[in-house]
Amino acid sequence: MFSKQILSVLAAAGVASAASSSNICKQDTFTINSQADITDLLSCTTLTGDVVIGNQTDATLDFTGIKVIDGDLSLLNNNLVSTLKSDTTTEISGAFHLQNLTTLSTLSFGDLTSVGSINWVSLTALDVLTFTAGIKSAKSIVVSDTFLSSLDGLDVASADTININNNRRLVSYSSSLGNLTTLLNINANGLDLQVSFPELIWIANMTISNVSSFDVPSLKVVNGSMRFDSNFFTSFNAPNLTETTSGDISFVSNAELTNITIPMLTTIGGGFLIANNTAMDKVTGFPKLKTVGGAVNMRGNFTDIELPALNDVKGAFDIVSTGDISSSCSTFKKLAPSSQGGGGQIQGKYTCDSNNAEANSDTNPTSTGSSSGSSATGSSGNGNAAAGISVNSLAVLGLAGVAVIAQML
Ligand SMILES: *[C@@H]1O[C@H](CO)[C@@H](O)[C@H](O)[C@H]1NC(C)=O
Ligand SMILES: *[C@@H]1O[C@H](CO)[C@@H](O)[C@H](O)[C@H]1NC(C)=O
Ligand SMILES: *[C@@H]1O[C@H](CO)[C@@H](O)[C@H](O)[C@H]1NC(C)=O
Ligand SMILES: *[C@@H]1O[C@H](CO)[C@@H](O)[C@H](O)[C@H]1NC(C)=O
Ligand SMILES: *[C@@H]1O[C@H](CO)[C@@H](O)[C@H](O)[C@H]1NC(C)=O
Ligand SMILES: *[C@@H]1O[C@H](CO)[C@@H](O)[C@H](O)[C@H]1NC(C)=O
Ligand SMILES: *[C@@H]1O[C@H](CO)[C@@H](O)[C@H](O)[C@H]1NC(C)=O
Ligand SMILES: *[C@@H]1O[C@H](CO)[C@@H](O)[C@H](O)[C@H]1NC(C)=O
Ligand SMILES: *[C@@H]1O[C@H](CO)[C@@H](O)[C@H](O)[C@H]1NC(C)=O
Ligand SMILES: *[C@@H]1O[C@H](CO)[C@@H](O)[C@H](O)[C@H]1NC(C)=O
Repeated sequence: MFSKQILSVLAAAGVASAASSSNICKQDTFTINSQADITDLLSCTTLTGDVVIGNQTDATLDFTGIKVIDGDLSLLNNNLVSTLKSDTTTEISGAFHLQNLTTLSTLSFGDLTSVGSINWVSLTALDVLTFTAGIKSAKSIVVSDTFLSSLDGLDVASADTININNNRRLVSYSSSLGNLTTLLNINANGLDLQVSFPELIWIANMTISNVSSFDVPSLKVVNGSMRFDSNFFTSFNAPNLTETTSGDISFVSNAELTNITIPMLTTIGGGFLIANNTAMDKVTGFPKLKTVGGAVNMRGNFTDIELPALNDVKGAFDIVSTGDISSSCSTFKKLAPSSQGGGGQIQGKYTCDSNNAEANSDTNPTSTGSSSGSSATGSSGNGNAAAGISVNSLAVLGLAGVAVIAQML
């Protein structure tokens, strides 16, 4: 009420256009139910407060004229709006929150470059983004259950969280992301999704599922865990990755995967799990891997496993193959705990088993494999079961993405 009065005073005095380079209007909430409500605000260049669009509105809502929204912009549970746009807005400092919109098909913010966070969930008619300048800055990006085939226009250099799930038509996601501090989750999108982060240097946790390629040519450090489940790629290569500082590396149920190559990797802070990637018969892409902070667990159709630099495994070492790996086993046996006749480089229990037809049936073996280890159970337990994100709960995260996101808001 208060600022509406100010606005009319300004408009009446003809101040609005004169001051159009910076005219700040302040209100807790700007409620928009029609284009006319927006027109009433066009003497403002900055809206300080949250902009909330109601559920009984015109089909087109055009914010052109407003430069900055210093607050949230939200449009929820609406089946009337088909076009939401602005040709002048450069910044939304709070959340850009769009959820449960069945008719929104045009989202066009040509000048928008900076957003506090993006939460776009259940936008089932949205098939294209028109973000010509492109969003360069957002702390968190959640895009879930949309009809988008590309995320061009969302290209941040750095973020806390990026969660892209259940976008069934999404086939490409390429970003100049340089680092990410909390979690990257990509899950249950289009069946031929190609992901590329050519400039990514370090990343906290990442969980990647159902993608057909994943390129991280510059990645040096994973601060948390790196998990790949049920992807469609045939090879994974991280040429510059040297370590995961505290988390796991895991590849589970990637049916077509034949080749994992991480030539510079020396340290895995957590556990090392390779399971049920049935096309993979050789594990030979880790020539420098020296230290594993958790357990080493491998299950698969292997004939050859080589970890020539390995000399410190804090947890158990447990390898089971459907094929004959006896020659690999005799090499690894030399690293077994002294109680098992080895040199003690492996601190937990050593197991190496050939010709076991059931090798692929256990895709989360840490709980059994390492708990029989002695003093090393602490760190090996941390390995694959890291703080509750198990391989199984990842699927839930993706499928229940909408619910998870709702809790994050
Ligand atoms: C519109 O929003 C109001 C307040 O949130 C809600 O009570 C009402 O059910 C909504 N109407 C429709 C059609 O969704
Ligand atoms: C989605 O929005 C519609 C109105 O467009 C509403 O009737 C429905 O309850 C909303 N669904 C959810 C899950 O909030
Ligand atoms: C994160 O990445 C951005 C973009 O590459 C870069 O400007 C910034 O310095 C990086 N921050 C850290 C802490 O590495
Ligand atoms: C992750 O590791 C990189 C490289 O060691 C470091 O610069 C960065 O600060 C770490 N980030 C976090 C969130 O710990
Ligand atoms: C990675 O996720 C685990 C489990 O949620 C958490 O404990 C850890 O702090 C995260 N690491 C980073 C660097 O965010
Ligand atoms: C890989 O690391 C080397 C050495 O740090 C660096 O010179 C090279 O540019 C990196 N490659 C990529 C693709 O980032
Ligand atoms: C092994 O992977 C296949 C897909 O390649 C999947 O169908 C099967 O359920 C997985 N097995 C287990 C035990 O997870
Ligand atoms: C595995 O991939 C690496 C890196 O792309 C490549 O150099 C190597 O030749 C591949 N190995 C096999 C057996 O295909
Ligand atoms: C992997 O081994 C299982 C069990 O012996 C077998 O049924 C399956 O056909 C093998 N898969 C491949 C791709 O070799
Ligand atoms: C997608 O990945 C999840 C595991 O994160 C898996 O359960 C699901 O079967 C996969 N879907 C397809 C179509 O591969």
